[in-house]
Amino acid sequence: MFKLLCQPFEMGNMTLKNRMVMPPMVVSYATADGYTTKRNIAYYEARAKGGVGLIIQEATFVHPLGRILGNEQGISDDSFIPGLNKLTQAVHRHGAKVAVQIIHGGRAAYLPEGVQPLGPSPIAAPGKAIPKELTLAEIAEIVQYFVDAAVRAKQAGYDGIEIHAAITI
Ligand SMILES: Cc1cc2nc3c(=O)[nH]c(=O)nc-3n(C[C@H](O)[C@H](O)[C@H](O)COP(=O)(O)O)c2cc1C
Repeated sequence: MFKLLCQPFEMGNMTLKNRMVMPPMVVSYATADGYTTKRNIAYYEARAKGGVGLIIQEATFVHPLGRILGNEQGISDDSFIPGLNKLTQAVHRHGAKVAVQIIHGGRAAYLPEGVQPLGPSPIAAPGKAIPKELTLAEIAEIVQYFVDAAVRAKQAGYDGIEIHAAITI
């Protein structure tokens, strides 16, 4: 049953050393501003050392007002790249690949007091304020945040990105 589990796997233009994938799971080890920490890097390095072929790093915000949690990892401007680069290098040292999941919290975002969330319709997420209904131009702006985050991910040494497109909470 597990015959293929430890065999290499071709995914797009990368080769995974095996078929074990760690899904994105937020650990909130970043600073309050979203910068990676030694603890965060050590956490992912330990998983890579454990032998997983691909790590998908936890939900990482593309805009500071698109966080979903406190101490969430960010990739919303270039100042995040050096820290994330240390993280990808730590994972690569053990032969694992690493992708980053990029997210905008939308209507369910974790926001400072008084800041209205954003959403495609003015329908509140459970326990959250009614979101501002986005215009098409504003949606295009958010799409651009994802594009910019993907470019930064490449600069930081990630092997891929995963788009988190389903905030339901
Ligand atoms: C503590 C915790 C944090 C999680 N964080 C994320 C996340 O950042 N992004 C995401 O898409 N899913 C997240 N998930 C969902 C897991 O990725 C999901 O549980 C995993 O894919 C396994 O799927 P299963 O629960 O259906 O077995 C999280 C789950 C847990 C338990």
